[in-house]
Amino acid sequence: MDEEHNTSSGYSIDYGNSSSVSLKTRPTRTTLTTEQQVFFDDVMIGLQQTPKTLPCKYFYDDKGSQLFEAICELDEYYVTRTELALLNQIKEELSSLIGPESSIIEPGAGAGIKIQTLLKALDAPNNYVPMDISSDFLFYSAQIIQKRFPDIEVFPIQGDFTQPVEWVGTKQSGKSIVFFPGSTIGNFEPDQAIDFLKNMAALIGDNGALIVGVDLMKDANILEAAYDDKQGITAQFNKNLLTRINLQLNGKFNLDKFTHKALVNFEKQRVEMHLVSQVEQQVSINGQTIHFQCGESVHTENSHKYTEQSFVEIAKKAGLQRKKTWVDENGLFSIHYLTLA
Ligand code: AVJ
Repeated sequence: MDEEHNTSSGYSIDYGNSSSVSLKTRPTRTTLTTEQQVFFDDVMIGLQQTPKTLPCKYFYDDKGSQLFEAICELDEYYVTRTELALLNQIKEELSSLIGPESSIIEPGAGAGIKIQTLLKALDAPNNYVPMDISSDFLFYSAQIIQKRFPDIEVFPIQGDFTQPVEWVGTKQSGKSIVFFPGSTIGNFEPDQAIDFLKNMAALIGDNGALIVGVDLMKDANILEAAYDDKQGITAQFNKNLLTRINLQLNGKFNLDKFTHKALVNFEKQRVEMHLVSQVEQQVSINGQTIHFQCGESVHTENSHKYTEQSFVEIAKKAGLQRKKTWVDENGLFSIHYLTLA
């Protein structure tokens, strides 16, 4: 039985009174906020399954978002750099396809470099509607974009785009263009991707469009390096999920007793990330105990990879037709322009 936590990080939690208590002495159970309760329930559902899973959307707390930004700078992680270069090559073409008077909606808006490239190239867009699960990051970058683009009205929306949300009919005017870069769509199982695309199809309507960045299937060694980099940043990113559980949900994970693993699942056409328990252990999360076998893995993320054709197929199933696909010269990454079929 291992009830220890990772003392090496040396953090403490402020309970709102004058003194803060170290992790070692804090109570095993505290009252969770509504947001934490949702997180807790999702964590418990995932860890009580066989095989164990955790939802990848929880990677992105402040620390996780920072780590993801660091991943995007890695030599091994070709995704961000390749997409941005491709976007720069096609931006005028995108601009003429879109035309004037558009509202650009971005589910899962991150740091906003790609969107700025697009907004700069567009012909007098009306609105920019970023949506993100992490509100701090969202409102901060929305402000920056508003300052840089004073003629565009920015309406940030805090929310989880993996859930059916009521963000249709916000203040946007003109054609609705959904911008979904980064191959974030790869985090969905293909069936979920179809549901998401159906939602987006309803949102864009007859004169709108959807711009989706989709990572392409490729050699295992390129993919493995991209998801298990030499510096171990991706490992930190993966393990940060456990740190977040420790901090927000009274978790007692010892980070040294889990290792990061990335593998290519060819049958399912995806890269998987796992956290593998190095010993048999019990871990308590807000007073509830989870048992891990030695070598047991927690599946934390899927990154589905497509071919040009396999993506056009799932778009079709969502009632969308492909107007155009662009692929970089090395065949690593694709951007699709889709409209209602
Ligand atoms: C942001 C979901 C596109 O799957 O490549 C990066 C996240 N995970 N390294 C991806 C991620 C590990 C990334 N997405």
